[in-house]
Amino acid sequence: MTWTSDNPHLSGNFAPVFDELSTSDLPVIAGAIPGDLSGAYMRNGPNPMFKPLSYAYPFDGDGMIHVVYLDNGRARYRNRFVRTRGLVAEQRAGRAIYGGTLAPVPVDPALVEPDGDPGPFKNGAFVGIVRHAGHILALLEVSTGYELTPELDTIGEWSPGTDEPIEIGAHTRRHPATGALFGVTYGIDEPFVRFQEIDASGRLVNSTKVPLAAATMIHDFILTERHIVVLAGPAVFDMAAAQAGQSPIQWRPELGTRIGLLPLNGDAVRWLEAEPFFVFHFANGFEHKGRLTIDYVRHQWLHFGVGPAQSIPPRLHRLAIDLSSGRIDDQCVCDAVVEFPRVDDRRNATPTRHVYIPTLTDRWTLDRSTSATFNTIAHMNPESGDVALHDFGNRLVGEPVFIPKPGLDGEQDGYLAVFIYDPASDVSTFTLLDAADVTADPVAVVALPRRVPQGLHGAWMPNL
Ligand SMILES: [Fe+2]
Repeated sequence: MTWTSDNPHLSGNFAPVFDELSTSDLPVIAGAIPGDLSGAYMRNGPNPMFKPLSYAYPFDGDGMIHVVYLDNGRARYRNRFVRTRGLVAEQRAGRAIYGGTLAPVPVDPALVEPDGDPGPFKNGAFVGIVRHAGHILALLEVSTGYELTPELDTIGEWSPGTDEPIEIGAHTRRHPATGALFGVTYGIDEPFVRFQEIDASGRLVNSTKVPLAAATMIHDFILTERHIVVLAGPAVFDMAAAQAGQSPIQWRPELGTRIGLLPLNGDAVRWLEAEPFFVFHFANGFEHKGRLTIDYVRHQWLHFGVGPAQSIPPRLHRLAIDLSSGRIDDQCVCDAVVEFPRVDDRRNATPTRHVYIPTLTDRWTLDRSTSATFNTIAHMNPESGDVALHDFGNRLVGEPVFIPKPGLDGEQDGYLAVFIYDPASDVSTFTLLDAADVTADPVAVVALPRRVPQGLHGAWMPNL
């Protein structure tokens, strides 16, 4: 089954693929796969199986995982849909039955019975992927996680020792001392944010609900050794607006952005006020000598392709909070357009200086109208301001995932795994760059058996 759409985020390399492949012994077309790397690079992304009733990137779709398994210098590839309850109901109906997040439609209960997702928002599990306590989870904002096998079969919604599956959210962060995994979810028609703490053995040990001034969209958060930090930008859910045919998410700059510091020891939340801005993604955050530092991508406002475009593109910023005075200092690291920042995950919540992030240069001469169009992997140092680039010209890049070099633990001792797409040949590659020198020739370029669409987030799972 195939379909096409003239939506720019369902066209070109944003268009979904429909077949599920398993291919061994992928050709290495440049360099060599380090022989001591063993594990899987998995990447999630929205890939609607049926032509959507409405669609807004990156809010809608069905999760599809693309994985490259590495072992003994060889690579194999596989891709599978995440078979969520909503997708199973749509397969039964033979068509899309859920509307998009920004244009929800009532769902016919007869079509979702007996076990489908009641909607109106479908949990497509298409944003994040993480392995915790041996469980591989596909994740979506304000949603339960779907557990997958290492070969990408869908097991079902995951319960961390709880009677029912719990909402984990799209992004998770691991505490450096305890190994606990933290997730975030929030209320759409009630103003609160909730943090879930799942211990290293995979059991829910804390669920902390924090009231907000308004029901706010919160995609990601920061974990330090002593705090959870939440940035509540003024992207507010308004169901009355939705019923009047407008977007259910409204930008209310008069509310400003509120920064909540939630101590992990159970003390009261402290709120700081800032001017209105929006954050999808944080690179990392940490505390050092009474200062809390946050590296993040700052958006002027939340833009969904409707309303005025941002006059300042999304940029990497470093925000510092003096924990005694509450004073906030915010600096732009580099004026290049960026998104999807990553660091060495082993250093989450501890001091980092190296951020790896896609950007767009003038060597890209094709269509620039679609958000999340990037052709370059940048290595940015928010402390020094240094920037190094690997410019792929007229090829598209995605989020780079840091793979530690086995046996080494320096902050730059790793490879960056990224899918690259060449529109001229309609071919994708799995490419490894050296994190210590992104400008160098790739460590390895592996030809994939098919085009891999532009996606969202990935993860490296060693020794899978
Ligand atoms: Fe995200």
